[in-house]
Amino acid sequence: MVLILSNKDLQKILEMSDVIRVVEMAFKEMGLGNVQLPLRAVILLSEYNGWMGVMPSYVKGMNALATKVVTLYPNNPINLNLPTIMATIILNDPKSGAVLSIMDGTFITAMRTGAASGVAAKYLAREDSEVLGIFGAGIQARTQLMAICEVRDIKKVYIYDIIKEKADKFAEEISKKFGIKVKSVSNPKEAVKDCDIIITATTSTTPVFKGEWLQLGTHITSIGVSTQKDARELDTLTIVKSKVIVDSKEAALQEVGDIKIPILKGVINENHIYAELGEIIAGKKKGRENRDEITLFKSCGLAIQDAVTAYLAYEKAKSAGIGIEIEL
Ligand SMILES: NC(=O)c1ccc[n+]([C@@H]2O[C@H](COP(=O)([O-])OP(=O)(O)OC[C@H]3O[C@@H](n4cnc5c(N)ncnc54)[C@H](O)[C@@H]3O)[C@@H](O)[C@H]2O)c1
Repeated sequence: MVLILSNKDLQKILEMSDVIRVVEMAFKEMGLGNVQLPLRAVILLSEYNGWMGVMPSYVKGMNALATKVVTLYPNNPINLNLPTIMATIILNDPKSGAVLSIMDGTFITAMRTGAASGVAAKYLAREDSEVLGIFGAGIQARTQLMAICEVRDIKKVYIYDIIKEKADKFAEEISKKFGIKVKSVSNPKEAVKDCDIIITATTSTTPVFKGEWLQLGTHITSIGVSTQKDARELDTLTIVKSKVIVDSKEAALQEVGDIKIPILKGVINENHIYAELGEIIAGKKKGRENRDEITLFKSCGLAIQDAVTAYLAYEKAKSAGIGIEIEL
């Protein structure tokens, strides 16, 4: 029998603290060389400004074997009232290959992407970080904020979006839900200058702030992934000033304009990437080393994050009797 789990089912059973725990373990397994993680296969649908990725992975020590099919259509929210990112996950039993579950991957993507940023902040942001700046008031911004609040005592949030009403709505919703002061700002500089942690979670194809605005000691996480070649959220100065950590060096060099453009310009080379997050968690490299360094986590989004979160959801759903079992 195959367990079908809907977006609503997953919202009932997944908590950010649990997702952070399994995502951290998955990155550690990656740092220790215990995962199989091929680069995602991508189809570009330029006629629709669309992108589809197929993301298989196996995390041996965590029993997680899964494939996510994910689409990225940045015009969806405005043109079709659909999310930018939509996904479905198939979870297999590593012992037999049998399909255990087919589940919504849209909520899991938001949770595991937030969780990765939470893990990065745990190792890279200053312990006394209190002020968070967020770029982009979309779906991911919400789980980004949830995750950062799990690992640091955030007291104030600045939110900036090119669509001001979205930032205003986000500020109102989050202030109520989390009891944190959230200010919607009209100028991107305001979401950078006094912040200890900055998250960029936008669909922008050009840099969203200027590296010259950054204060010493800031931690930045950039999660933007684009349908367009050589798009980026961060300018060259931000990359140059930062100790750069990625989730996967291979994926970053292949997929990420933020890193590829400064390399192509000859401003940095591949060695400017200090580490993969998993190497830091596994203790092979140090995280933040002093109060002044500017740290940057560039997230491409890895299939292992989906696989371990899907397995966690499956186990929790089974024990809570949630979902529908069907024979395919
Ligand atoms: N790294 C990962 O694992 C991962 C996972 C999921 C999504 N993503 C990426 O995260 C980004 C956000 O996804 P989402 O689902 O929240 O999309 P969304 O469409 O819900 O939200 C994106 C928001 O960014 C805003 N925006 C665009 N340009 C901006 C700018 N210059 N400054 C400030 N705001 C700007 C848009 O107005 C929109 O509100 C996308 O690039 C997506 O591909 C990455």
